[in-house]
This record gives sequence, structure tokens and C-alpha cells, in this order.
Amino acid sequence: MAKLKSLDDLLVHELQDIYNAESQILKALPKMVKAASHPELQSAFEEHLEQTEGQIERLDQVFKLLGVPAKGKKCEGMAGLIEEGKKTMEEDAEPSVMDAALIAAAQKVEHYEIASYGCVCTYAEMLGYDQVHDLLGQNLEEEETTDEKLTDLAESVINIEAEEGEDAEEEASR
Ligand SMILES: [Fe+2]
Repeated sequence: MAKLKSLDDLLVHELQDIYNAESQILKALPKMVKAASHPELQSAFEEHLEQTEGQIERLDQVFKLLGVPAKGKKCEGMAGLIEEGKKTMEEDAEPSVMDAALIAAAQKVEHYEIASYGCVCTYAEMLGYDQVHDLLGQNLEEEETTDEKLTDLAESVINIEAEEGEDAEEEASR
């Protein structure tokens, strides 16, 4: 493993991590679309799938600007989050409860990405890489917007339906 000697090295190291994380997310999202029941949640995941493709393209541009090959390094953190999400999807759950669980899993992923993009944005800014900073800032903003959208969706419909699903069952068993 190459030694991290400077903030430049750390920037590249972290970019390789998020580059790999994004490609893991790209593979996981279609499964989440399938597992979701609420049409609004399905379309939120579909929209994020498209966004993710664009984010990977921005990362390709960032690597180019930095003059380093665009390659990822396995992101164990994301692998763990996705593995947990996979286990959740295997649970036998009420559809509305599954939707709430999928939002929780997706938000954990978003928060990982927000942390990563926040760090690389700061490094790029400190190093004076304006274009790189701008591109990474766009990815950061998209992740933040997605996270907020998921919160809104959970608060406005999904969690309420999940709660009602449970009530309805309780009523029926009485
Ligand atoms: Fe992303």
C-alpha cells in the first residue's frame, strides 16, 4: 500500500473509496426499487439511480483533472451497509414496514456519502482545486437533497402507513 504523505494523497485515497462506494450503490439500487412498494419511494430510488450515474461521471472528471487513473478501492464501509440492507430486504415484512426499513437503510448510505463528499470537498478547497471542488460539491449537494427527500417521504407517508399497518393488524387480532 502506498504511503499517504500529503493531503493530495489523502484526497486520491478518499476519492478511490467513494468511487467504489458509488459503483456498489449503483448495483444495489435496482434491488431496492424492486423491494419498495410505495410508488413515490420506487421513483425516489429510480431517480437516485440516474443521479448516481451522473455522480460517477463527475468523479471520472475529477480523476482526469487530478491526472490520476479513475479506479476504485473496495469500500468496506459501503459493503457493510449494503449487506445490512440486503438482509433487511430478506425479512418477511409488511410492505409499508419494509418501505420504512428501506428508507432507513438508504439514509445510512446517504450519510456515509455525505461524510465522504464533505471531506473530499474540504481537501479540494484547501488545495485550491477549484474545478474539483465544484464537481464534488455538486455530488455533495445531490446526496444532501436525496437525504432530505427520504426524510420528507418517511414523515409524510411511509412511516405513517407503517404505523397504520401495525394498528390494522392489532385490530384484526382482537
Ligand atoms: Fe452517490
